Amino acid sequence: MNRKEYKFLNNLIKKYNKSKDKKFYSLVGEPFTNEDIIAGIETLLSGRITMSSITKRFEENFAKFVGSKHALMVNSGSSANLLAFFSSINPKNYKRLHKNDECLIPAICWSTSLWPIVQAGLKPKFVDVSLDDFNFDLKKLERKITKKTKAIMAVHVLGNSTRMSNLMKIVKKYNLTLIEDTCESLGSIYKDKYLGTFGRFGTYSFYVSHQLIAGEGGMLVCNDKRDYEIAHTLRAHGWDRGLRKKQNTEFNFINSGFNLRPLDLTASIGLNQLKRLNKSIKIRRNNRDKILKSVMSSHKWKDQLTFLKPNKNLKPSWFGIPILLNKKYVKQKKKYLKKLNQNGIETRPIISGNFLNQPSIKLYKLNSKREKFPIAQEIENRGFFIGLHTKDIEKKEIIKLTNNLLSID
Ligand SMILES: Cc1ncc(COP(=O)(O)O)c(C=O)c1O
Repeated sequence: MNRKEYKFLNNLIKKYNKSKDKKFYSLVGEPFTNEDIIAGIETLLSGRITMSSITKRFEENFAKFVGSKHALMVNSGSSANLLAFFSSINPKNYKRLHKNDECLIPAICWSTSLWPIVQAGLKPKFVDVSLDDFNFDLKKLERKITKKTKAIMAVHVLGNSTRMSNLMKIVKKYNLTLIEDTCESLGSIYKDKYLGTFGRFGTYSFYVSHQLIAGEGGMLVCNDKRDYEIAHTLRAHGWDRGLRKKQNTEFNFINSGFNLRPLDLTASIGLNQLKRLNKSIKIRRNNRDKILKSVMSSHKWKDQLTFLKPNKNLKPSWFGIPILLNKKYVKQKKKYLKKLNQNGIETRPIISGNFLNQPSIKLYKLNSKREKFPIAQEIENRGFFIGLHTKDIEKKEIIKLTNNLLSID
């Protein structure tokens, strides 16, 4: 692209930016830089549509970034979870999960952390979480293990994780398959190792508001070549295309399959964002520190809020600030959040709260014994999160945000 063309596109982007409805403190801030948008436009103009060399390059760079042998891009984080479970039950798999095997999952999870377990014919078994890190309570997790337990779906909540060394001891002791839903925690490092690379499969999402935003898209990572090849085949129709060295034009369907193919458009935006991911993580971390410092040193500070702390050995990659309201304000939570939102501060629940409360759980009779998950419930009652932007936060924004966050008596 020459300078004139580049200038023309920049002006066009400016024009559209002006007409956007901007909130004071949105969940995401500006998701795309001009370079992201131009990278996407160039890909479209080049006529590359799906899984060309740009997607391959994104996969390779992503695998390098997190330190995994293989990475496979798909059209969403949900699809990455689906692929992880369907690869795990596949007849070609050397260490296969079987129908009705139990899979442990935290009560604080996302819908599509859970449903691929059910869709793959496995039995989900819920475990309560810890108030310290919002992830599995590992003591409760170990108590739930039976002879039928064969897998664990860990869900790293909003950049945080459980004590991974302890979780890995349990995984090894009981010879379990670990899948890590890392859709909310790309870039978090536990003792030198990226979250998502501890288990057999790790999954990531590039949906809006996550650490890396491509609009849509997801990634599956694994270290075993056989796992990678199964997932690769299932991603697109059960076809062996792209697995052989020679360009093959045969219609050779060697397995069952889906169509979970990503677009080159999202791959090119993702690739561009990956280049500055470490910088974005650092800015978000600094912004969080500044906000927390301002709130907790304000004259209005009366311990109204508790901010989620990262686990001991974790270097977190946040995309939001998870918060618990002090117990005495719980009854006012709805009104408080409404006021924040009216003042332009977008909020969201901690993933989706206690997932056992969702109507779909009843529909599929997944908690017929009506087991209680008190900590997940407490997080649902008291918790919410606000965003963290990838631009340095300004002083006046911090002051306004502080005053709003502390506007509860
Ligand atoms: C923990 C978790 N898992 C999975 C997903 C699904 O990702 P996607 O929206 O890319 O399908 C999300 C989405 O927000 C999530 O938070």
